[in-house]
Amino acid sequence: MKLMEKLWEKAKADRKKIVLAEGEEERNLQACEKILNNKIANVALVGDENNIKEKAKSLGLNIDGAEIFDPETSDKTEGYAKEFYELRKHKGMTLEKADKIVRDPLYFATMMVKMNDGDGLVSGAVHTTGDLLRPGLQIVKTKKGAKVVSSAFIMEVPNCEFGESGMLLFSDCAVNPNPTSEQLASIAISTAETAKSLCDMDAKVAMLSFSTMGSAKHELVDKVVEATKLAKEQRSDLDIDGELQLDAAIVKKVADLKAPESNVAGKANVLVFPDLQAGNIGYKLVQRFAKAEAIGPICQGFAKPINDLSRGCSSDDIVNVVAVTAVQAQNMTK
Ligand code: ACO
Repeated sequence: MKLMEKLWEKAKADRKKIVLAEGEEERNLQACEKILNNKIANVALVGDENNIKEKAKSLGLNIDGAEIFDPETSDKTEGYAKEFYELRKHKGMTLEKADKIVRDPLYFATMMVKMNDGDGLVSGAVHTTGDLLRPGLQIVKTKKGAKVVSSAFIMEVPNCEFGESGMLLFSDCAVNPNPTSEQLASIAISTAETAKSLCDMDAKVAMLSFSTMGSAKHELVDKVVEATKLAKEQRSDLDIDGELQLDAAIVKKVADLKAPESNVAGKANVLVFPDLQAGNIGYKLVQRFAKAEAIGPICQGFAKPINDLSRGCSSDDIVNVVAVTAVQAQNMTK
């Protein structure tokens, strides 16, 4: 069974309520019908109720099973404004401003998740990554133990012997432009956890660099060396090693030469990039040149699951991201 099919099955086994913040948008409405028909999750749509109903009707969609929350008329809005004010008053927030802000569908949807009126949030067919992440970072924040919110891509590379028969996780390819060593260590740990919880994979985490085990000296390498040390100290139960060049991380022959002592080199299935330039370019290279499927970016480290969509996404992509989010929500309550 392919990974996505497995995640659909997991999601169906214990249905969670996922909030779609862009509830008036066509692909979200199409996805909503598919999610309900396939019983993957319960759905809450955020937006203007009349508009949502009229659009669904004109598209010939049945979304009767979805709840609709209109920030302008909802009886939740006042309470959310008060809570948002409490959360942000140290940053100069006023009640008046908070009342305006939570009427923004993305902020309203994020407050729903914060206040346990939804188990997870998916958005980004219209909004940018930053638009979605900012309310999440301000309101839901990081889970206990995580230093940062970051992201992972599950890469499924066809006809490939690396990782788990071509399946590898790449991180961070979408969130942190230039993580510190501490943040990089946290990203490595979060990605190992994502590998386990979504892919049933025992992670072998390579901390990538242009140097292998001291072969080059540079402050950029020092950051990765320090991150590796911190991650190992924090989670001695995980297989994390570095610094490793990409070939030493995944090719056994190269690993035998360059890092013979390593328990990760040559068999890494989680690749942690030193910064966002490397990570974002790296996953797109593999996606395009190797025709790999890139599932993500899957956000990790939030206290409640929040996931982003690409603006070019299809309704099927939204269904899949909802399934991922629902499984993350299940794992958080375990
Ligand atoms: N984890 C946890 N908290 C964070 C993080 C993080 N990674 N980043 C910022 N924060 C917190 C800050 O501490 C701050 O908290 P506070 O307001 O309570 O003090 C709050 O979030 C806002 O911080 P800012 O630094 O003001 O946030 P910023 O406006 O820089 O936005 C963001 C943060 C959106 C994550 C930014 O770093 C960003 O745009 N990253 C790149 C996103 C991107 O463009 N990705 C590439 C495209 S995606 C793709 O190709 C798949």
